[in-house]
Amino acid sequence: MQTSESNVTLNPPVETRPVARKLSDDAYRRIDREVSKFPPEGKMSAVMAALGIAQDETGWLSVEVMADVASYLDMPAIAVQEVATFYNMYNVRPLGRHKITVCTNLPCALSGGARAGDYLKDRLGIEYQETTPDGAFTLQEGECMGACGDAPVMLVNNKRMVSWMSDEKIDALLDELSSKAATS
Ligand code: FES
Repeated sequence: MQTSESNVTLNPPVETRPVARKLSDDAYRRIDREVSKFPPEGKMSAVMAALGIAQDETGWLSVEVMADVASYLDMPAIAVQEVATFYNMYNVRPLGRHKITVCTNLPCALSGGARAGDYLKDRLGIEYQETTPDGAFTLQEGECMGACGDAPVMLVNNKRMVSWMSDEKIDALLDELSSKAATS
């Protein structure tokens, strides 16, 4: 864009610049399938699914990946960032290879959740919101997962819920995930 007065070239607004594609063809095909579930004018309703697909592929949602999703769904980038930062299943910063989210809402906290979180912190040598130095684990607190009677409950990598997490079960979970982390 040029001004007629100064003849100075200005950068176009960020959202009108071409956005680099960041995902694989397969990921876009999966997003297309989600988009097809909505009427054409409701394309943006697929944003949560699209962010999940992008995160599965890239591990976390960088500004560039979110911009790509926004462009693909004809949405403002800021609207996609608002969704990604609102829900804690989206990772907007690089995390460890395995994310363990401990439900520390009050019912769970009073039924062993807080203690299980402390045990995990001791085992991993990190606090909530931290990642182990080897990049294997990130620990975070989560909201109610709808399984209050199963406390302590945890979510592994946003998808797998584990219940009644005694110290022994936590040890077994860490062993299982460590062997995966070592081979991935
Ligand atoms: S409070 Fe933890 S699952 Fe509901």
